[in-house]
Amino acid sequence: MAIPRDFINELVARTDIVELVGRKVQLKKAGKNYSACCPFHSEKTPSFTVSQDKQFYHCFGCGAHGNAIDFVMEYDRLEFVDAIEDLAGQLGLQVPQEKGIGQRKDPSVSRDLYELMDEASRFYHNQLKQNPDKDKVQKYLQYRGLSSEVVEHFNIGFAPDGWDNLLGRYRQNQDAQNKLVTTGMVIANDNGKRYDRFRDRLMFPIRDRRGRVIGFGGRVLGDGTPKYLNSPETPIFHKGNELYGLYEVKQRHRNPKTILIVEGYMDVVALAQFGVDYAVASLGTATTAEQLQLLLRNAEQIVCCYDGDRAGQEAAWRALETALPLLKPGDQIKFMFLEQGEDPDSMVRKIGKDAFEELIANAQSLNDFMFTNLSSEANGDKSKFAKIALDLIGKIKDPILQNLLLENLSHKVGMNSSEELKKKLGFNAQAAKANPLGAKGIKGRGTPLRLAISLLVQKPTIGTNLPMQPALSHLSMPGLDLLIQLLDLTRNEELTSAQLIELYRDKPEFNTLKKLAQWDHQITDENLQHEFKKSLVWLNNQYLEQRYQELSLKSTHTKEERVQLQKLISIIKSQK
Ligand code: CTP
Ligand code: MN
Repeated sequence: MAIPRDFINELVARTDIVELVGRKVQLKKAGKNYSACCPFHSEKTPSFTVSQDKQFYHCFGCGAHGNAIDFVMEYDRLEFVDAIEDLAGQLGLQVPQEKGIGQRKDPSVSRDLYELMDEASRFYHNQLKQNPDKDKVQKYLQYRGLSSEVVEHFNIGFAPDGWDNLLGRYRQNQDAQNKLVTTGMVIANDNGKRYDRFRDRLMFPIRDRRGRVIGFGGRVLGDGTPKYLNSPETPIFHKGNELYGLYEVKQRHRNPKTILIVEGYMDVVALAQFGVDYAVASLGTATTAEQLQLLLRNAEQIVCCYDGDRAGQEAAWRALETALPLLKPGDQIKFMFLEQGEDPDSMVRKIGKDAFEELIANAQSLNDFMFTNLSSEANGDKSKFAKIALDLIGKIKDPILQNLLLENLSHKVGMNSSEELKKKLGFNAQAAKANPLGAKGIKGRGTPLRLAISLLVQKPTIGTNLPMQPALSHLSMPGLDLLIQLLDLTRNEELTSAQLIELYRDKPEFNTLKKLAQWDHQITDENLQHEFKKSLVWLNNQYLEQRYQELSLKSTHTKEERVQLQKLISIIKSQK
């Protein structure tokens, strides 16, 4: 992260969420909070609330919740850094960048690179109508069956034949020429001679999530090689992090239910033309973890679509292996394979939208795809099957999901339980190493620890000026580390819930904290402080109990231990 924490903290403090949300959604005062019909799902009666105290919003209908940053990310469909820039802009602040990390060290440079890419893209697009060769290009578009609407939607263009059609537009501007080299639009050879990278090609602009052009794919208008030429990695274009067509999908669907991953530019465009307007393509490489994660954040379900040949199966298997470590319960990744010799472009033209969507609906689940492929690999050998399967399941980081698949596997190999299977194969389950603050972390809805954390998250000022709690750090209890951290964070600074939670955005506890921020503990405002202190007392007593048990189990004691034991006994007695 290249933006300083302090700045983010200040931004959250200075933005009033009621005002921010109120500009987009009609808010009505309802008691202490404000309410409205939720902007994130459709409803007739309001279940969306905004709390001025907590600087948090929450929808009881769809569960959407978060602080000002989350709201901008969700509502305006921006990534974190872009949401920060947006909020800063609203307050008239410049986002400072921490030196040494991050890609965008010098915003003035990047802005010019984006401008140049935008100009290039407009130039190529205009050539479709203005270039002397335009008939040839129009004929090719016709031959590929691309409608003028879809050409506009994807801003497809034409890079004319010749060495300096683009470069020549910047004859007088050395700085722009250098930047064209930086963006990969112009190549500088060993002799220092410069020339356009893309010549006599159909151009597909690749846009980032804000719609800025960051690279291009260019196709020959016929059979030449290479068939596709792509922009190289540049300061603004990182192939592994971007997906062709994602911006265009998000323009059509705020919250797409399904996103289809296909292999080619043409596939994305043709599918969109036929109404399957939710496909993206990875950029000439295997699908990366970053790309999958990006999609998991943007859709309920991802369907990976491959050709029916051997290469398609292999690509699907690679995607499966990439996906396993990322998966969380509820994530849906499916696989579909087309007939031999077809790609999505040819297929959708052949069978039409409805039949194609039926194929999508019948895609194989990750589970099925994995086990079917394993069966054919193991060829009837059950122990081989179990071994390979366990290797794969071992890649899963989420303990719940991992156990689900283990259960599944144990049934398939005819064992009664996953425990038996794990024992037999010496499997070291992730669950055992699981983070205690994970999904099942803070057990039992109403434990004092859970209550203490919730109260502190919901009203961080109850932690202000609270003395240190040295005993707590000796207590072993899952989740206690988090409470200690929160106490440290709130002791010397008055924070709102939103600010406190923001400090955890990149940490595994982020979701737990957001959930606890919404938890309805049924304690009135006047009693908050009292209940909070009570839970701290309970925790301190837990420590005393634990220490007492430790000491009483020892057969010999040092002098200090004997004194401590006496003290403990008298404290515990006095409390009963
Ligand atoms: N690709 C590439 N470089 C190549 C060939 C392919 O980057 N030399 C990438 C492109 O992103 C391309 C995708 O791989 O869109 C799929 O390639 P291919 O199946 O060969 O092309 P199609 O998408 O089917 O394109 P077309 O229908 O125009 O032949
Ligand atoms: Mn094709």
